[in-house]
Amino acid sequence: SPDSDLRASIRTIPDYPKKGILFRDITTLLGNPRAFRRAVDELASPWAGSKIDKVAGIEARGFILGGAVAHRLSAGFVPIRKRGKLPHETVRIAYSLEYGVDEMEMHRDAIAPGEKTILVDDLIATGGTAEAAVKLLQGIGAEVVAAAFVIDLPDLGGAAKIEALGVPVRTLVAFS
Ligand code: PRP
Ligand code: ADE
Repeated sequence: SPDSDLRASIRTIPDYPKKGILFRDITTLLGNPRAFRRAVDELASPWAGSKIDKVAGIEARGFILGGAVAHRLSAGFVPIRKRGKLPHETVRIAYSLEYGVDEMEMHRDAIAPGEKTILVDDLIATGGTAEAAVKLLQGIGAEVVAAAFVIDLPDLGGAAKIEALGVPVRTLVAFS
């Protein structure tokens, strides 16, 4: 139905947060009940029958989708946060993204070695954010079985960067 069409549910804002960026805004997808359900179901569906231990979501938009995917797969949820937000012992990494640089961290004890983990975020652009997250996860011994995103910006080459780390990538909608 038109209401669950993912591409149509995503809004584009030119020149946000910087001139020259076409910002793909998922708040319109999240606010549409059928589109939100469809996005979560399609992100999770390849692993419906397998035992996934953890879903890791990247702050902030990856929390919304990753939390829902974790519930769908009866997995635990692990937040990967911007620096300074987590109270216990962390592992930290610096990274660059399409429009800036930042640092992210996760709790060192959030995932036990060998636990099957899926990384979830709303969008992959340059792949800098997801690459840093995969390195944090692999660094604490997680088995990262996939990375899943609603939106791919294929011209920026992010998915290839993640697959080079041995992690298959699933995306639902591409904007070129
Ligand atoms: C956005 C998006 C991804 C990242 C993708 O997050 O949600 O996490 O950029 O860019 P990349 O592939 O070039 O690294 P942002 O850092 O803007 O944070 P937010 O979710 O808190 O808005
Ligand atoms: N994160 C990195 N690039 C982005 C874009 N073009 N739109 C929304 N989020 C992004």
